[in-house]
Amino acid sequence: MASKAPQKVFIGVAWPYVNGRQHIGHIAGAHLPPDIFARFNRMIGNEVIMVSGSDTHGTPITIKADQEGKTPIEVVNHFHPLFIEAYLKLGLTYDLYTHTETETHWDVTQDFFLKHREKGYIYTQMQQQLYDPQDGRFLPDRYVEGTCPKCGNADARGDQCDNCGATYDAIELKNPRSKITGNTKLEIRETEHFYLDLGKANDLLLDWWNSSPKDHWRTNVAAYTKSQLEEKSLRGRAITRDLTWGISIPLPGYESKRFYVWYDAVIGYLSGSKEWSKLVGKPDAWKDWWDAAKNPGARTYYFIGKDNIPFHSIIWPAMLLAYGGLNTPHDVPANQYLLFKGSKFSKSFNRIIPIHEVLERYQPDAWRYALTAMAPETADTDFTWEDFVTRVNSELIAKWGNLINRMIPFAYKRFDQSVPAPGQHTEKDSGLLDEVKRGFEVVRSLYEGVKLRAASVELMRLTDLVNLYITQQAPFTVIKTDMARAGTIVHTVLQSITWLNTMWAPILPHTAQLAHELLGFEGSFFGRQFTETVKDARGEHLVLRYDHAQAVGRWEAVALAAGQKLREPRAPFAMLDPKTPEIEAGLAGDAT
Ligand code: MF3
Ligand code: ZN
Repeated sequence: MASKAPQKVFIGVAWPYVNGRQHIGHIAGAHLPPDIFARFNRMIGNEVIMVSGSDTHGTPITIKADQEGKTPIEVVNHFHPLFIEAYLKLGLTYDLYTHTETETHWDVTQDFFLKHREKGYIYTQMQQQLYDPQDGRFLPDRYVEGTCPKCGNADARGDQCDNCGATYDAIELKNPRSKITGNTKLEIRETEHFYLDLGKANDLLLDWWNSSPKDHWRTNVAAYTKSQLEEKSLRGRAITRDLTWGISIPLPGYESKRFYVWYDAVIGYLSGSKEWSKLVGKPDAWKDWWDAAKNPGARTYYFIGKDNIPFHSIIWPAMLLAYGGLNTPHDVPANQYLLFKGSKFSKSFNRIIPIHEVLERYQPDAWRYALTAMAPETADTDFTWEDFVTRVNSELIAKWGNLINRMIPFAYKRFDQSVPAPGQHTEKDSGLLDEVKRGFEVVRSLYEGVKLRAASVELMRLTDLVNLYITQQAPFTVIKTDMARAGTIVHTVLQSITWLNTMWAPILPHTAQLAHELLGFEGSFFGRQFTETVKDARGEHLVLRYDHAQAVGRWEAVALAAGQKLREPRAPFAMLDPKTPEIEAGLAGDAT
């Protein structure tokens, strides 16, 4: 095989607001796919950094704090460790999962702003803002609700409509009301804000868009982005707010304002990379992924839900281009929604299946498989517990689990706890081995194209082929009369399992480690996740990290040696109770 130089791959994952528990919609939409992609890329030898963190700023956080009678940082410190705990259990291998209330993030954000300003991409303008006289304050973003000016949804938020996805200024809402006081008698007052001049960046964006093919982009993301850029209707967007929580403006006279959460959050991709560089003791390491002069071939991917598309395919590229010298998105594989009974899982309406609770009862790989098999890659997809149980019991366990669980114990018992030596291969034997081995090309290109659901379908097809081969070759019967032939069959199956295990590993890392050990291999298939508390000028924050160094799992068809000692078999999965206790426990219930 032609050896390619390792590619630098940056994987950014949408920074979740840290104002409530994480639910399986977040995991399916934004967090699990990049982990699969990251693990795969590391296996093929690419140098990956996967970075994200909790989004700690903006009105989603301050509103939660108001509701709970807490300060914003107390809200952050309550939920952020819970996110990390869930990601650890699920095996999300973030090179760094941090948050945005850090010294590095403040510095990088303020530097971005000053550079944008110096290069003429920032202007100030008086803005008309809703003001609540009852409360004596401006009502930015989520402090106000009203009727969507585009679709008429009566519960649209101040900055974005959850129903149609439109973004607008709060004063465009019909019948606006304060979310805090419920007051509908709001005034419009003038306040000065900084604007990012997206109009000025339009031509740069078009050049970027046209400078390289976008065939690998998902069609909806590409079509939306292209039409927005070609319309040339981008206009300035306010990037400051009248708030006291958030990153301050590094200029005198603006002490009562903070950056708009979206301006700082996307910068987290870069600041997180810089924080990671410091933590690994190589402060300039981030440049290998970001510095366009040093490494223009680095690929940067952004895994997000569809509501975040404009921020990642237009606004963040504009910010990067305006700043200058930084690599722009190679791909933005946005997902549609995983729905629950036809509408969004939502923190605000209590319609959630919190990931911590379900991870206490189900194996992480059961979730990883089911959420990949039902991944909303191209269309909104309804989650049901029945579907979940079927995916796990009838697909994952009945096919892949069964294969591991049938053949390893058989070899262990009947072939002296080791891999039997193969004799002459029949056409069936080599046919199967060839087909499975081809997966290293076929499945690889699906993973590479971020077609993760298709990768899982192809892997199940190959898994089925091996199960079918066992049925047809009947080693359990053959062994009674022909030990040598049975040994060849068992070797063929164990060899296929070894290869399939490698290919399943990005999706099923915990199972991969177990099967790797049962087959008698040494070492850790993947690296090690760990947490750490980082202290800086803004305080302390917990981070999740990943150490790839000791991983042995590689994307290659390792030959299974005859005579290799097997380890004592254990079943990889536990069958689920089809009665889905979640429904009884009310976890999946409607809002109450
Ligand atoms: N916090 C936002 C949300 O949950 C996403 C921010 S993504 C990033 O919708 F681009 F800002 F990182
Ligand atoms: Zn709408």
